[in-house]
Amino acid sequence: MVQIIDGKLISKQIKDELKEEVGKIRAAGEQICLAVVQVGEDPASTVYVNNKKKACAYIGIESKAFELPEATTEEELVNLVEQLNADSGVNGILVQLPLPSHIDEDKIIRTISPDKDVDGFHPSSVGRLWIGEKGFVSCTPAGIIQLLKRSGIEIEGKECVVIGRSNIVGKPMAALLLRENGTVTVAHSRTKDLKKVAKRADILIVAIGKKQFIDSEYVKEGAVVIDVGMHRDENRKLCGDVNYMDVADKVSAITPVPGGVGPMTIAMLMNNCVETVRK
Ligand code: GUN
Repeated sequence: MVQIIDGKLISKQIKDELKEEVGKIRAAGEQICLAVVQVGEDPASTVYVNNKKKACAYIGIESKAFELPEATTEEELVNLVEQLNADSGVNGILVQLPLPSHIDEDKIIRTISPDKDVDGFHPSSVGRLWIGEKGFVSCTPAGIIQLLKRSGIEIEGKECVVIGRSNIVGKPMAALLLRENGTVTVAHSRTKDLKKVAKRADILIVAIGKKQFIDSEYVKEGAVVIDVGMHRDENRKLCGDVNYMDVADKVSAITPVPGGVGPMTIAMLMNNCVETVRK
């Protein structure tokens, strides 16, 4: 029987654990505050930002929203981030991406203090992750590790193949799987014979950004498949990078879309916010 990895349930468990922890922190007189910055009105970003604010409210984290117009200059945004860096009442800073094209995202990410970098995107956080030092970890890959661990899937010694090499998912995913003693391959759009490489995987993480691209020919019998993709199919229904129906009876475990990886990202963001005050 295929194990369907329930990200909705696991993210709820994590949020409930955090809620309890934050209750104790607040009872001891300490607050946690996340600054959420959105520039412009991209509808998908608005949905994500609202979900992040809702999760904060559920757990007992204060959220301060900064909704800036599309025409905000890079300098104005840098100034806001510097102000938030200096504000001792703000524990975490999240600048929702993508930013309008006239603003250099890298510059903004580098302006966020590494101590408040709850997205884990700052080069200092990324460097710490790779050398095994404590620091903030990008939320989606951190959530995938939790999905695997809480589903009883061992990583140590396993062949792990990550398809996708983005700074937000693929690269930190590889670092985390390595930290868990997996044997890690990072494949991508230029990989030769991707089917052969993907088929090596005991654990296949797919973040390729192509709708239902991975079918049963890419998957070894009994593999664990984690689908990071999020698209709409021809009927406007949500689907992933993996052709779920085609691979489901070949794998031992799989994440659905929606309800797999997606809900974990916010749960791990909340964990990073709590981490800012953990002793
Ligand atoms: N846009 C899409 N995903 C993310 C994320 O995890 N963090 C931020 N800040 N922006 C995003």
